[in-house]
Amino acid sequence: MIVRNVGPDDIYTVIDLEYQNFDYPYPPEIINFLYEFHRDTFLVVERDKDVIGFVIGIVQKREGHILVIAIRDDYKKKGIGTFLMKRLIDAYEKKGITRLKLEVRASNVAALSMYRNLGFKITNRLKHYYENGEDGLLLRRENL
Ligand SMILES: CC(C)(COP(=O)(O)OP(=O)(O)OC[C@H]1O[C@@H](n2cnc3c(N)ncnc32)[C@H](O)[C@@H]1OP(=O)(O)O)[C@@H](O)C(=O)NCCC(=O)NCCS
Repeated sequence: MIVRNVGPDDIYTVIDLEYQNFDYPYPPEIINFLYEFHRDTFLVVERDKDVIGFVIGIVQKREGHILVIAIRDDYKKKGIGTFLMKRLIDAYEKKGITRLKLEVRASNVAALSMYRNLGFKITNRLKHYYENGEDGLLLRRENL
C-alpha cells in the first residue's frame, strides 16, 4: 500500500470515488481546484496500482481543515482510512500545522469512530449543517 500526493492521472478516480461515497459530492470543479491549490494535503492511497482512497485537507488561518476522506467499498474496514489520516496528519505536521478540524454528519458512525480513535473530539453541534437538513458535528484535534 502506497500513500502519495495526488497526481494529474488520479483525478478521474478521485471524482468517481467521491460520487460513489456521497449523496452530495463535491463537484469536479471543486476537486480540480483543490488539486491545483492544495496538493500538499491532498493524498491518495494506492494498492496494486489502483487508487482505492483519498483524503483532502486545506490550511486556513494556520489550522488544518480536513474536507473529505473516502475509501473504496471493497477496501473499507481494513484500517486504510486510519492509515491515510495518519499520513495526512504527518503532512500537516511537516507544514507546522498541529491544530486540525473537520465536520462530519452526526449519523456517520464509521467516520466518527475513526476520527475518535485518531484523537479528534466533538466540540460543536452544527444545526442543519447539511443540504438535507441533517446536523453536523465539528471535531477538533490539538497537538497530542
Ligand atoms: C469513513 C471511512 C473513510 C473509514 O475508512 P476505513 O478504511 O473503512 O476505516 P478504518 O478501517 O481505518 O476504521 C477505523 C475505525 O472506524 C471504525 N469503523 C470503520 N467502519 C465502521 C463502520 N462501518 N461501522 C462502525 N465503525 C466503523 C472502526 O471502529 C475502526 O476502528 P477499529 O479498527 O479499531 O475497529 C470509510 O468508511 C468511507 O469511505 N466512508 C464513506 C465516506 C465518508 O463518510 N467519509 C467521511 C466523511 S468526509
